[in-house]
Parts: sequence; structure tokens; C-alpha cells
Amino acid sequence: CGIVGYIGKRDVAPLLLEGLQRLEYRGYDSAGIAIHANGPGRAGGLRTAKAKGRVRELEERVPARFNGTTGIAHTRWATHGAPSDENAHPHQDAEGRVAVVHNGIIDNASELRARLTAEGVVFTSETDTEVLAHLIGRSTAGSLEERVREALRLVEGTYGIAVLHADFTDRIVVARNGSPVVLGIGEHEMFVASDVAALVSHTRQVITLDDGEMATLKADDYRTYTTEGSRTTASPTTVEWEAESYDMAGHDTYMHKEITEQADAVDRVLRGRIDDRFATVHLGGLNLDAREARSVRRVKILGCGSAYHAGLIGAQLVEELARIPADAEPASEFRYRNAVVDPDTLYIAVSQSGETYDTLAAVQELKRKGARVLGVVNVVGSAIARETDGGVYVHAGPEICVVSTKCFTNTAVAFALLALHLGRIRDLSVADGKRIISGLRRLPEQIGEIMKLEPEIRKVAAEYAEAKSMMFVGRVRGYPVALEASLKLKEISYIHAEAYPASELKHGPLALIEPAVPTVAVLPEDELIDKNRATLEEIKARSGRILAVAHGEQEQADHTIVVPRNEVELDPILMGIPLQLLAYHTALALGRDIDKPRNLAKSVTVE
Ligand code: G6P
Repeated sequence: CGIVGYIGKRDVAPLLLEGLQRLEYRGYDSAGIAIHANGPGRAGGLRTAKAKGRVRELEERVPARFNGTTGIAHTRWATHGAPSDENAHPHQDAEGRVAVVHNGIIDNASELRARLTAEGVVFTSETDTEVLAHLIGRSTAGSLEERVREALRLVEGTYGIAVLHADFTDRIVVARNGSPVVLGIGEHEMFVASDVAALVSHTRQVITLDDGEMATLKADDYRTYTTEGSRTTASPTTVEWEAESYDMAGHDTYMHKEITEQADAVDRVLRGRIDDRFATVHLGGLNLDAREARSVRRVKILGCGSAYHAGLIGAQLVEELARIPADAEPASEFRYRNAVVDPDTLYIAVSQSGETYDTLAAVQELKRKGARVLGVVNVVGSAIARETDGGVYVHAGPEICVVSTKCFTNTAVAFALLALHLGRIRDLSVADGKRIISGLRRLPEQIGEIMKLEPEIRKVAAEYAEAKSMMFVGRVRGYPVALEASLKLKEISYIHAEAYPASELKHGPLALIEPAVPTVAVLPEDELIDKNRATLEEIKARSGRILAVAHGEQEQADHTIVVPRNEVELDPILMGIPLQLLAYHTALALGRDIDKPRNLAKSVTVE
């Protein structure tokens, strides 16, 4: 799931191991490294080391004299074949003269494997990637670039790859199709990675490859071209995130750090975007003029996981503030169901990483059908940011923990800005615009107040950590909050959790309520508060324990987390935050690996 490569003058193994550590957050189950022994210019052959488990374990396997100045490395998240030493990348050809690291999935791997096996090739792993190593190794073309190209021509599927060859010691060849590849441009040294996180401590000059693009990296220069071989021009851009923002800054986990950063993060997404005089919003990258904005008949928001949940809050904001019918759907469902694409609908793809394959595929399908698609994305220059016609960056800064917190919140705030913008072009009054703006401006301070509740939430979490299962309920504005809180809890604590619209409880899940299954209820002080209280009564009557998140003490609840009140439209943004802390402290009480939950990856760049 992570690629790092280096060519230059420095000792490569420590550099690559450090790079892998910076990618650890993405989730993986094994790791490996390959280098040109003795460095470029001398044909010393390739050396590799691999290990199931953490980068630490790989480090122990790297022999003392593992010297070289060119190499590639990988952290793997199992797709074809279980996590093991053999299945870890880099993969090699029969003679051990080629080494390949690969992210993505080769769809026709079994067919190619059968063909190669018939020709006498003996496979040493169960991976799809090994096919690529053999194809490159068996090519007789003149240059390494041509050999890689020949192999890629036979392959169907997605890939980000980096390739070393014992006969071409002066270069690394990389290619991208559906899985991110970023070049890092240094002084007499070049880097490659699947994520800028692995590069920023060395260089902030980067080039993100497009799908169908390849590159050759040499110590002193680089070249980019298409998989067909024609040159492309790519000039480096500067990464705006500081290297330090990738550090843990004294926190025990990235999740905790990122939860506590939210007041600043929200401040950043708002900065420079509000015009108080007209109660309007300026979103420079939107690419949607007033006439186009007025002609939008529907808004459809697509994303996966927490991004989808942020999209649900976004859809409500768009309906409330702009009075445009809006809904959100998992991008993964949308792309497979041959959805009707409507020219009057504005489609919005939401993604922290901008690389989630299901979301990207939905965008590509929409574009192919002529739809207008905007992006609400955190990573500048990511695939979704580039494929969309325009959009809003959420400026949350790097999010390292696998589960999303600050980015979820910032995405919801970005949607509030977008909804306000659309609303003010349409029928939202100046007075209401001003009311929302003042609400937005209060958010950072109110988030600060919520952070002060952490000791209380820690205590509550210790009690709820014993639950075998939990229900999360909310009505209308509270429902997406309940969905996200339940996802957060299951992701990091592994406690089973379900989220339901409060009113649906009586249509089924009420049967589950008993003392061992507590309920978390999200109760904003809006026009539905009485209905919500009635739901609490129903739960109470079944002797269920209740934790409420509300704007005042709830007498039916066993415990209420009281959060500050904002404008009703914006309350969901704040109400999710104490529940991030609840999930965090529950997982902590259970001793979970919070930043790297089992079986999950930060961005899923495969189908
Ligand atoms: C993965 C992560 C989730 C995340 C989702 C969408 O499944 O584990 O935490 O919400 O991807 O990621 P994105 O980068 O598109 O927001």
C-alpha cells in the first residue's frame, strides 16, 4: 500500500526505511526493500530483504552491509495472497535481476500467471505483482523503459509501480495507472513515493504522475512520458504542508493530535473565504459562475466511509441553505449501479486523500457521461482534485491516523461554505447569510470548549468500553452524526455498533435494546427535540442505558455530554466532535492500536 524509492548519493537503506515509517499510517501487513548493491555504475546486482509485520521487523532483517545509493521499498496491504514474507514486495524475476514494488491490482494476473507457468516460469509468491516482475525480466527490448512498457501492455488493472533492474543501475522506472505515484525532486537526488508524506522531510518539490504516465528517475534528472512513449511535460509544484505537521507533536497517537487540531483546522478552511459585507462566500477554485449555480436542479454527493458521512451533512446543508434537493450516496454503490446521470445535477466527490479508487472511478464515469463534477478534497493535486472540474479544498493539513477526524469536520465546514455560497446566489437572505457566517466564526472557539470535556468523556468511555454492542441514533440533523460516530467506534475499538435514524428504531432495532446494548443519542436543540426525547423514553422503557449528546442535560439519559449551541444548521458539525473523543477513549481503554486499526487502510486505492 506504500511505495518509496531513492536514487542519489546517500546510503539508501536508512532513507527508505524512514520513508516506509512515514507511510506506516496507511495500514499494511508486510514490508520489503530492494537496492542496487554497491551503487550505480557498478553491476553489483540487486539485494532484497522482506518481512511480514511492521517496518521495525524489516529493519532487523536488513543485513549490516546493505550498502547502495539506489533502491525501492514497499509496505503491502494484502489483496492476492495472505500476508507473509514471500508475498511481501519487492517481487523479482527468476534470475533476480528485476525488482518491482506495486500498489493496485492486476485483474488478469491469474491468466498471465497460467501463461508464464506454461512457459516454465516458477512462481515464488501468490501475488499478482510477481507476474509483472517476470514479464519485465523476460522482455528482450533494449531499454528498461521499453521492457516495462512491454510488460504493462499485457497487464489489465490498476498500478503504481517502481522498478529496478540489475543491468540498468543508473535509474528507477516508475509508472502509474489508478494508483498514486509522486516524484520528489531533490539536488542530485530523486525520490519517488505513493504519498507525499514519505517525501516532505527531504524535498517539497513534487510531481504527481497522471494515469497512463511513466517516469525515469536518475540522480541528476528525471523524464516523464506516456505509457506509449511520448514525452510529457511536468513541472514540479511545491507541497504546502510543512514536514513538521507530519510529526506527533507530543501526543501519544496521531488520532489524538488530529482531534485536538480541529479548532485550528476549521479556522483554516474559513480563512479568506467570507465576505461580511454581502454575507457571501468566495470559493476561488469552484469554477461555477452565478448563472451556472442558479441552473443547478439537484446536488448529488459521493464519497466513501467518513467522506460519505461528511457528504450526508453536506447534503442537508445544501438543502437547508440553498433549497436545492440534495443527497449523498456511497461512491462505491453509485459507480456500480449504472446511475442515471442528469445534466442539471451538480455532482460533488468528497475525499480526504483524493485517491480513493471507488470515488475516483465514480468521477471518471460521471465525466465520461458529460456531468459536471466538483471535488471537496483535502490533498492538493490528488487524483480526484485533478479529475474534477473545480472544487473546494478543505485545508485540514495532513491527516495521518487511518480514521478521519479533523478532515471529517473540515469537510462538513467546507460544505457549509459551499451551501452558503449557493444559497446566497439563490434565495438565502442577507440576514440568514449573516447568521450562518457568525455561526461559522464561532466554531473554532466552541470546538475549544468541547475539548475541555475530554476528562469527562474519558470517564464515560471507560464505562461503555464493556459494551458488546452499541446503538447510535439521531433524527435528521443528528443522523449523519450518529452514523459517523458509530463508524468511528467500530473502526478503532472493534465494538459492534449500529447507527439508525431515531424514528426507525421502532421498526426493528428496538428488539436489540437491553442493558448490555447502550445507546448514544444525538439530540440537537432543534424543532425535533421533543420527538427525540420520546425516542429516549422508548429506549428507557426497554431498560437500555443512554448516553446523550445534547445542548442541555437530558433527564431520560444516564449521562449527557452537553455541547455548546451554534445555529441549528451548523450544530451537527460540533456534535460529532465529543463522539470522536468517545471512540478514542473507548479504544484506548481497550488497548487498541488506534492509529492503525486492524484490516483497515487510510486510503483504499483498489476496488
Ligand atoms: C478508507 C478509510 C476511511 C475513509 C475512506 C475514504 O476506507 O479507512 O477512514 O473515510 O477510506 O477515504 P477518503 O480519502 O476518500 O476520504
